[in-house]
Amino acid sequence: MTAALLSVQGLEVRYGPIEAVKGISLALRAGEITALVGANGAGKSTTLMALSGLVPKAAGQVLFDGQDIGQLAPHRIVRTGVVQVAEGRATLTTLTVRENLELGAYTRRDSAAERANDLDRVFTMFPRLQERASGLAGNLSGGEQQMLAIGRALMARPRVLLLDEPSMGLAPIVVQEIFRTLRDINAQGLTILLVEQNVRQALKIAHRGYVLETGHIVLEGSGRELLDEPRVQQAYLGV
Ligand SMILES: Nc1ncnc2c1ncn2[C@@H]1O[C@H](COP(=O)(O)OP(=O)(O)O)[C@@H](O)[C@H]1O
Ligand SMILES: [Mg+2]
Repeated sequence: MTAALLSVQGLEVRYGPIEAVKGISLALRAGEITALVGANGAGKSTTLMALSGLVPKAAGQVLFDGQDIGQLAPHRIVRTGVVQVAEGRATLTTLTVRENLELGAYTRRDSAAERANDLDRVFTMFPRLQERASGLAGNLSGGEQQMLAIGRALMARPRVLLLDEPSMGLAPIVVQEIFRTLRDINAQGLTILLVEQNVRQALKIAHRGYVLETGHIVLEGSGRELLDEPRVQQAYLGV
């Protein structure tokens, strides 16, 4: 069994009186795609934001590669290699595609040559971004903006990529393309935490998954096991 690269123990998050996440534990194994699925309001985004340091934790520990990152500021967390993909629509629409990608490297302290090298790699992965490199990000389609958001996160040299519903609002064929891209990125060794309401697609590409309901983990298992689970089928797959 592969060791956990990132683990969360007893995470609790509150918004005033609302307890959004009620003491959950997760483990992301190195090199795997882990899916965190559940209905609207289950606490998925809150969990990701807590990992990124964007909301305060009422309780819980976050260990990344043996280091306690639970108390770090968001930019320091990014620098450790835990990088959240911005929502597709958070691309900076008045900047060019290239400028958006370059911004992804802002926390890095290495050379311009290394960043240029990584930009080339992102363009190789997303040829359509290369074609539109000098165009404004605001002119991209929804799917292309999602790819730009992923490309921008890759520019930060992540070791763990966190994604919050990358399929949201996209046509099914575009969703397929995004998920295929995630599989490719994972095949190159990147560890991924994928938050989705598109439970079927997420569990199909995930090595492991967790089902979150009203702030609690209610089921966990391999992607296959969860797809076969009657409770998952009834609640999320319309079987
Ligand atoms: N900024 C906020 N202030 C108050 N309550 C919030 C806030 N953000 C989320 N919540 C509540 O926390 C719970 C979990 O929300 P969220 O993490 O966004 O769920 P999900 O991403 O699974 O849809 C919901 O009950 C939601 O209404
Ligand atoms: Mg959400």
